[in-house]
Amino acid sequence: MPNAPTVVKGMRDLLPPETRWFAEVEAAAREVFALYGYEEIRTPMLERTELFARTVGEETDIVGKEMYSFTDRDQASLTLRPEATASVARAYVEHRLWEKPGWTRLYYIGPMFRRERPQQGRYRQFSQIGAELLGGDAPQMDAEMLIMLARLLDRLQLTGWTLYLNSLGCADDRRRYDAALGEALRPLAPRMCADCRRRALTHPLRVLDCKRPEDQELIAQLPTPLDFLDDGCRGHFETVRRLLDAAGIAYQLQPRLVRGLDYYTRTAFEFVHGALGAQNALLGGGRYDLLAERLGAPKGAGAGIGFALGEDRLVSAWQAGRAAEAVPAAAIYLAPLGESALGPALALAENLRRQGLGVMAGDARWSAKKHLSTAARQAARWAVLIGENEINSRQAAVKALATGEQSAVGWDQLAEFFSASREQILSS
Ligand code: HAM
Repeated sequence: MPNAPTVVKGMRDLLPPETRWFAEVEAAAREVFALYGYEEIRTPMLERTELFARTVGEETDIVGKEMYSFTDRDQASLTLRPEATASVARAYVEHRLWEKPGWTRLYYIGPMFRRERPQQGRYRQFSQIGAELLGGDAPQMDAEMLIMLARLLDRLQLTGWTLYLNSLGCADDRRRYDAALGEALRPLAPRMCADCRRRALTHPLRVLDCKRPEDQELIAQLPTPLDFLDDGCRGHFETVRRLLDAAGIAYQLQPRLVRGLDYYTRTAFEFVHGALGAQNALLGGGRYDLLAERLGAPKGAGAGIGFALGEDRLVSAWQAGRAAEAVPAAAIYLAPLGESALGPALALAENLRRQGLGVMAGDARWSAKKHLSTAARQAARWAVLIGENEINSRQAAVKALATGEQSAVGWDQLAEFFSASREQILSS
């Protein structure tokens, strides 16, 4: 079709069976989050632009150049959320969740929007699975979050990931560090790329995030946030590390790990995966002790830690490690042979579905041959053929598609037949 509309650049349709992998990952995440007492939060996809400017930070790439923002009819500037931590913090403040006893544990699953340059593993609409633990600054919270993440990846049987860990220090540490970094960059920046030169002036911390191989030697000479931690932050980080060691969770210290969002303080982390290529960050997160406070939470009540996992990337890494297996949309394919067989055949299918068996039907006008080849192509396990003879004898012709074995099964025994065979298949 000439000039037919196509999907927007950087966005994609998820089709079966990929949608099934997404649903499986989401189900596993919900299951694991529940084990740690997390409950779901759903915030709107549109927020006031100001929310992200004040939290993620004006100088970040996300706010500076990647947001989908527009002016609404009442002149309010709105933005499709590029991430959800700011929204969760806003909701935490707006609904005074800090008043509830104990820490607040929330998780979310949903689409985020960033107008980045699209490439493998990087989309303009992507899905995140994230969790936030709010209401305190105990290092125990950081450990809980990282242990929960390891549990989730373990539950998904995903191997080959590495946890990178760093501490960015508190606001005072950051001020001292930024000043020292600016100083150290002055003689080095002129030999770095244009992005680094600009960041050296606007946002020195982001220079550490430069991926250009030629700049790495100079970046290695710069001080790191770890060199500037005060006693409190150093002790906090040591406790987090001790708790991870006690839980048997391996990590790599990455003194130059910085995050692309400005709200972080103290613990920062990323999980990377070898199967992902250039966009190897499977998930990222960290502590944000001042975020909710800046949005109006009482002092100390807004501290928290969280993460977001790139679901598109997780599914891709997960798939890379799994054997390709054709899973049918429904295990039983129903083949009504002719219009006159349709009524009884559909009633039979409904009876099977009532008993929890998945059935999909073919077109009653098709020949038995066409039905069988369709059933095989749809990866069904059995084809059930119902024609005049089968209706008269009340016996269905059941064909096991893997073996070609055919048997006549009484209509009333069908559910039992499939359930027994299903158990056999599952236990073999
Ligand atoms: P983030 O590092 O910006 O953190 O994103 C988290 C994850 O989302 C990344 O590690 C990556 O897997 C995925 N992701 C990001 N951008 C894209 C993209 N364009 N295409 C595909 N996947 C992408 C945050 O968003 C923070 N809100 C995390 C957080 C929660 N920190 C504290 N709480």
